Amino acid sequence: METRNLIGGTWIDAEDGSTISVHNPATDDELAVVPEHGAAETRQAIDAAWNAQADWAALPAANRSVYLSRLGASMRRDTERLATLMTMEQGKPLAEARGEIAYAISFLEWAAEEGKRVYGDIVPASSADKRILALRQPVGIAAIITPWNFPAAMITRKLGPALACGCTTVIKPAEATPLSAIAIGELACEVGIPAGVVNIVTGDAAAIGETLLDDDRVRKLSFTGSTNVGRLLMKQASKNLLRLSLELGGHAPFIVFDDANLDLVVDAAVACKFRNAGQTCICANRFYVQAGVYDEFNARFAAVISELSVGNGLQEGVHIGPLISDAAVSKVEEHVEDATSLGANVLAGAKRVRIDGLADRFYAPTLLAGMTPDMKLCREETFGPVAPVARFETEAEVIKLANASEYGLAAYFFTRDGARLWRVAEALEYGIIGANDGAPSTAQAPFGGVKHSGFGREGGKYVMDEYTELKYVSWRI
Ligand code: SIN
Repeated sequence: METRNLIGGTWIDAEDGSTISVHNPATDDELAVVPEHGAAETRQAIDAAWNAQADWAALPAANRSVYLSRLGASMRRDTERLATLMTMEQGKPLAEARGEIAYAISFLEWAAEEGKRVYGDIVPASSADKRILALRQPVGIAAIITPWNFPAAMITRKLGPALACGCTTVIKPAEATPLSAIAIGELACEVGIPAGVVNIVTGDAAAIGETLLDDDRVRKLSFTGSTNVGRLLMKQASKNLLRLSLELGGHAPFIVFDDANLDLVVDAAVACKFRNAGQTCICANRFYVQAGVYDEFNARFAAVISELSVGNGLQEGVHIGPLISDAAVSKVEEHVEDATSLGANVLAGAKRVRIDGLADRFYAPTLLAGMTPDMKLCREETFGPVAPVARFETEAEVIKLANASEYGLAAYFFTRDGARLWRVAEALEYGIIGANDGAPSTAQAPFGGVKHSGFGREGGKYVMDEYTELKYVSWRI
């Protein structure tokens, strides 16, 4: 497999030969070295994207669609290889990695179709001799900066619509997980996507980010990552008044009303909380359970959690892989210690899991009862397999608790009451609502947050607005 970067259709090393080492978080084994690129190579990537931009934009949408479909098909053919690579560089269990490859393909397939429907408008004019046209045109070069928790899907969720709309791209994958990005780049070459349309740079995040945002040929940034980095990028992007899509941190409430179907709730809670070992922006961070089912929910949730198996994601039957780094495990420990010191009750887990021959980066799925608002895990993203639970009495009280967060990405609630379904869905200040649903992500829906979780929407027909400019033509006939 290639371990160099794709720039202008060729695979290149860093100019000075420097490299970054990529490790398996489960074993600490070195998987590969990739180039440590900086400003010079990023400028080359922008040059390549710039040179390809006019021809790519001029290609009929139907032709761009064929490339996207082919890329999706080649990823499907290589699912097992790509999923294994992802588990090795990121740690998530193989079954989840296969699921992520399917999810990643779904964005390409959706964009391949939706790209054919990027319509403009003809608007009725106020005088007989005029016609008013609103045209959609590609924004131009899109910078794509992606996180380590979904190394393939966060790329295709941006790359698919960018290419479908006629934008060329420079992708900067996370330093911890560049191999999935490079593998997608290889497949882009294999299916004949023209040189310069897809470029990849790995390396010095600050230098790459600054170079991308300083160059006025780059017209769009789509970033998924932390709120702090999002703020910094937004400041830098002000220089060229860049179009931005920022999918940032989350702190999702998960609300269980007395009348909920608890079988459904427990399954949804496990999937929503422990997917990717809790390292997901939309995973449940705070559980609020109404008094009438509080004890029963905790007992049933604890019983299922205690059966989850922790280990190397490559091993069949493992549900929880390693956390991405030592710092990630320390943060989880710090949050759990803080909560227990403030009175939380341990119902499951709350300790590292040490496994012979593997790195010390595994944390047991954890359930803590008695969460209070002063606990760190009630305010900050834990990004680990920890479920803290608080009891509530009334709907009004829980809405207030759920909305008492600077974040606004995803929220979940469970009830059988139809009127409450509407009321609560409308009252929660979040971009994504799971109503009796712990897994709302899908390619055709608008994904994105409000408040400090960012802005812009990915997915569905909505994402096409992010990669197109609306041009008004006033035509006197
Ligand atoms: C994320 O963590 O931001 C991605 C989760 C998803 O797409 O479901």
